[in-house]
Amino acid sequence: MPVLVSFWGKGGVGKTTLSSALAAKLASEGYRVYLLSTDFIPSLQDVLGVELQGGPREVCDGLIAEQLTEEKIIQLWKERFGEEVYRVASSLFPVDREIVDYVAGAPGIVEEFTLYYVWEKFHRVDADFIVWDTMATGGGIRMLRIEKEFYEHLGEAAKLYLKLKGFFDKIRTGEAEPLELIESWRRLADNIIKFLQSDTHRALLVSRPLPVDFSVVRRVYSELSSMSIPVRAVVVNMMGYSQTEDRVLEMFIHEFEGRAPLVLVPHVSPPPSECEKLKSLIPSDQMKRVLRVIK
Ligand SMILES: Nc1ncnc2c1ncn2[C@@H]1O[C@H](COP(=O)(O)OP(=O)(O)OP(=O)(O)O)[C@@H](O)[C@H]1O
Ligand SMILES: [Mg+2]
Repeated sequence: MPVLVSFWGKGGVGKTTLSSALAAKLASEGYRVYLLSTDFIPSLQDVLGVELQGGPREVCDGLIAEQLTEEKIIQLWKERFGEEVYRVASSLFPVDREIVDYVAGAPGIVEEFTLYYVWEKFHRVDADFIVWDTMATGGGIRMLRIEKEFYEHLGEAAKLYLKLKGFFDKIRTGEAEPLELIESWRRLADNIIKFLQSDTHRALLVSRPLPVDFSVVRRVYSELSSMSIPVRAVVVNMMGYSQTEDRVLEMFIHEFEGRAPLVLVPHVSPPPSECEKLKSLIPSDQMKRVLRVIK
C-alpha cells in the first residue's frame, strides 16, 4: 500500500512546487512516486517543465505525474456512475439518459468525484508514495465538506427513495435494485472519508511567512482537525523573502509547537523547475523532518 501525502493551503503559497519537490526527491531516493494534481487550474506541467495533457507520464526516473482536469473528471464520473444514476432515476421517473448529463453538472459532483478519483488511484497505482497537489484552500475544504454531506444525504436518499417508491409502485411497476445502489454509494462515501482520516494519509499544510497566510493556515488546520484529518507538518515556504518573516515565524512557532513540526523552505530565484532542481529545493535538514512524518 502506498502512503498518500497531500499538500493543502491557500492559492499561490507553493503547493504545486512543493508537491513536485517532494515527489522528485523521493523518486531520486529510489521510491516509486505518483504525483497527482487535482487543481483544475493546471500548473503542474509548468512547474515540471513537461507536457501533461496527454495523461499520466514519467517525468523523471521513478516519478509519474498526472494533471487531472475538470473535463476529464466529469467524463470519468459519467463512465463510473452514469449508468447507476440512470437506473435509480429511471426506476422512479420516466427519464431518458440526459438525466446523467444533468446530474453530472450538479454542484458538488466534481468535488465529490475528485476524492473518489484519489481514493481509486490509491488502490490501483503501484507506488510507494502518492503525492497529491490539492486545489487551493476554498476548493479543497469544500471538497471535504461535500464528501461528508454526500454521505449524510445518501442516508436520507434511501429513506426518500423508499417513500417515493411506495408511491410510484401504486402507479406503475418499477424494477431494478436502486436501494442497493444508493447504499453502495453511501458506503463508498464513508470509505473515502475514513481513508482520508486514516494513517495512510499524511496531510501537510503550506504557507508563506506572511500574516495573511498564517491566518489561513490556522483556519485550515482546525477545519482538517474537525474532520479528524490530522495535519502532520506545517511547511513555511519562500523563507528569506518577506521583511516581516521573523515576526510571523514566531507566530507559527507559538501556534504549532507540540502540534505539528515546522518545515522551512527558502525562496529561491529563479523559481525551481524540472526534477533536477526541484529535488534539492527542500534543504536536507528540513527534508529529514518531512520524511519523519511521511514515512
Ligand atoms: N520556494 C520557492 N522559491 C521561489 N519561488 C517559489 C517557491 N515556491 C513557489 N514558488 C513560485 O511561487 C508561485 C506559486 O507557486 P505554486 O504554483 O507552487 O503555488 P500553489 O500553491 O500551487 O498555487 P495555486 O494555488 O495557484 O495552485 C510560482 O510562480 C512558483 O514558481
Ligand atoms: Mg497549484
